[in-house]
Amino acid sequence: MNYFKIPQSTAVFYGEYTEYLRNAIEYVIAQTQIISSCCVKNIGRDPIENIKFRIKSPESMKEKLESHGYEISAENAVYKVYDAAGVRIVTSFLEDVEVVADFIRNIHGLKIIEEKDYINHPKINGYRSYHIICEVLSEPGNNKNHIYIEIQIRTIAMDTWASVEHQMKYKKIVVDEQLIVEELKRCADELAAVDLSLQRLSKVISGGTENEDFVCGRRESNVRCGYGNSAS
Ligand code: GTP
Ligand code: MG
Repeated sequence: MNYFKIPQSTAVFYGEYTEYLRNAIEYVIAQTQIISSCCVKNIGRDPIENIKFRIKSPESMKEKLESHGYEISAENAVYKVYDAAGVRIVTSFLEDVEVVADFIRNIHGLKIIEEKDYINHPKINGYRSYHIICEVLSEPGNNKNHIYIEIQIRTIAMDTWASVEHQMKYKKIVVDEQLIVEELKRCADELAAVDLSLQRLSKVISGGTENEDFVCGRRESNVRCGYGNSAS
């Protein structure tokens, strides 16, 4: 996979674990290709709009380890927290989130550790997403090949909101912080309503276009390294 560029500082921080993190991410992305093809075959369309992935930056990881009271080390980064490796799958429609989640639960070699349903139980600020923490299994006895990975599944609307909200966190807001928080929450709820409307529309449309030819093989262009402006 030639689109996976690891910054030098990341490789230095994670040391020998860097390649295991890369392999875990690549494994999950390769599996999403199967999800896409299966869906195109079975339901006539690809539920996956785009995929982003990243190895958590050393700065962000150090902050997280410190906040949990862990010593800063590559080993703790990989085994004490679960999101050194992250893949974010953005779906077209709300019901696609469950379709993708179900495929992930059945991927050979992935052991589900925890699922967090922030869609049916949004965070107080309005954040919505479905998180699956899993362990990528490899040869028994080789502990270093057991890598945790956080897979986030969310709709385009949820992804848009999370991206904007994340950017706000990094701005120094001096006035009207309460108002901004309230507005963001309102936007999150409105986007959730839009997701429901689009879901209904999708059902109506798919009813009439079951035999349409769907374009496959977008994987190269819709997989992007880095979470960009959205949350780390
Ligand atoms: P961290 O938030 O990473 O410390 O992990 P956690 O154990 O608290 O898990 P949680 O499920 O709350 O968050 C994991 C990831 O989900 C984060 O790293 C973000 O990528 C994303 N996320 C969670 N909450 C928010 C939020 O309120 N806003 C945005 N933009 N992203 C969030
Ligand atoms: Mg959190």
